[in-house]
Amino acid sequence: SKGRIGVVGSNMIDLVTYTDRMPAPGETIEAPDFLLGFGGKGANQAIAAARLGSAVTVVTCVGDDMFGQQQIRNFKDNGIDSSHVHVIANTSSGVAPIFVEPSGENSILIIKGANAALSPDHVDEAAPALAQCDAILMQLEVPLEVNYHTIAWAAGRGITTILNPAPASTELDVKKLAGLSFFCPNETELATLTGMPTKTDEDIIKAARHLIGQGIGQVVVTLGGRGARLVTADEVEEIAPVKVTPVDTTGAGDAFIGSFAHFLASGMDAKAALRQAARYAACSITRRGTQSSYLTAEEFAAL
Ligand code: RIB
Ligand code: NA
Repeated sequence: SKGRIGVVGSNMIDLVTYTDRMPAPGETIEAPDFLLGFGGKGANQAIAAARLGSAVTVVTCVGDDMFGQQQIRNFKDNGIDSSHVHVIANTSSGVAPIFVEPSGENSILIIKGANAALSPDHVDEAAPALAQCDAILMQLEVPLEVNYHTIAWAAGRGITTILNPAPASTELDVKKLAGLSFFCPNETELATLTGMPTKTDEDIIKAARHLIGQGIGQVVVTLGGRGARLVTADEVEEIAPVKVTPVDTTGAGDAFIGSFAHFLASGMDAKAALRQAARYAACSITRRGTQSSYLTAEEFAAL
């Protein structure tokens, strides 16, 4: 059956500049190429799950500018329920100036804009739709209270929740994540949050178990070129990396999280879902842009 995914989170317009190098302060250089695209961690994860065939509902805010209207159009074009997208008056939509260097590595600035207006009330208003979901996805580009509220609400109903604590924030209060099903940081985010070292595999497992001790169900740590680790209270599963030649890594983490939610909601266990998600994210790295690099179920199956 078709899995249902709720995304409570952000959306941004990505302004992607492909440059040979970053300019030094005070310097002007010419960059060879530019791409305007849809992004934002919440929207990216929603699009990945929707392209793979999940039924997706987004709870998010856009500004009352042309970007906001395009964002809503993009959700609709991808078959996503946009009835819980709120237009915030006198506010700009979220935007992300992104710089991609020839190695495929990126540097990102985010301007939250309307995303800062997402509130627990918006979540409550969407409760009937969210209650139908197999999994609810969250990130950190919206106010933290929204995440705490959503986790507490979903935990009370036995709905699976997945939090991707990106971009890293020292303000995230782990105690308020009790009841969260899956916490999905990268090693830097894990270190920021626990204040513990994450250099070795042993460090990572220790830090992840520290979080589990505080009421989080399972921890998925992404390790870039070293794959990922699924850490539970009594098990550690290694998710091998999928090697590809990087073209543009922007949004690869979101491809991983969004597809993980899709595969989980379609009935796979966490290990199998993570293995498929690693493949899906690797494919996105070989293509330019953020959402523009996310494959459909047909394209993914053809590989
Ligand atoms: O994770 C990638 C995303 O981060 C980009 O799409 C950008 O909008 C920022 O939110
Ligand atoms: Na990409």
